[in-house]
Amino acid sequence: MHRLSLLIVLGGLCLQALPGQTKSNVTLPQDKGPDKIDVSAYPAPMQANYKLFSAKCSKCHTIARPINTMMKEDEWSRYVKRMMHKPNSGISDNQGKEIFEFLIYDQTNRKDKNPKAFFPALSDEEIDKLKKGQ
Ligand code: HEC
Repeated sequence: MHRLSLLIVLGGLCLQALPGQTKSNVTLPQDKGPDKIDVSAYPAPMQANYKLFSAKCSKCHTIARPINTMMKEDEWSRYVKRMMHKPNSGISDNQGKEIFEFLIYDQTNRKDKNPKAFFPALSDEEIDKLKKGQ
């Protein structure tokens, strides 16, 4: 009986770990910010891209993370590609392009106007430090 329950617990842990292999296992300051953008004044194509962004970029971490992170255009470009190429990201080239267009529109029209309200992107080293501290 004892051994059986151990097996069940181990099995459960494996099942949880499998789809989450690339999941972010750290909480960043950005994760605690607002998790929605009011896009009612955005052009219709950007409202559609926002939906795609919300669906695709919330798979491995909070959607608040990208919503509250400031990046320059070339950084977003690199970042979207990096996220796209993670195993099982579920983001096609075309979807990546639409999400990138949304991120740049939102960066220019919302974040750049009030930069103090958002967080600068953390470096890999800073993220590693947070992971070790948790
Ligand atoms: C396959 C899983 C996955 C998907 C899908 C994903 N991310 Fe990430 N994201 C991560 C991981 C892993 C990290 C790094 C932090 C960590 O190691 O926990 C991260 C970190 C980030 C950060 C923090 C960057 C920093 O340095 O401060 C931003 C911003 C971000 N992701 C945006 C996005 C956007 C935008 C999308 C949609 C295009 C997206 N993510 C989709 C896994 C993912």
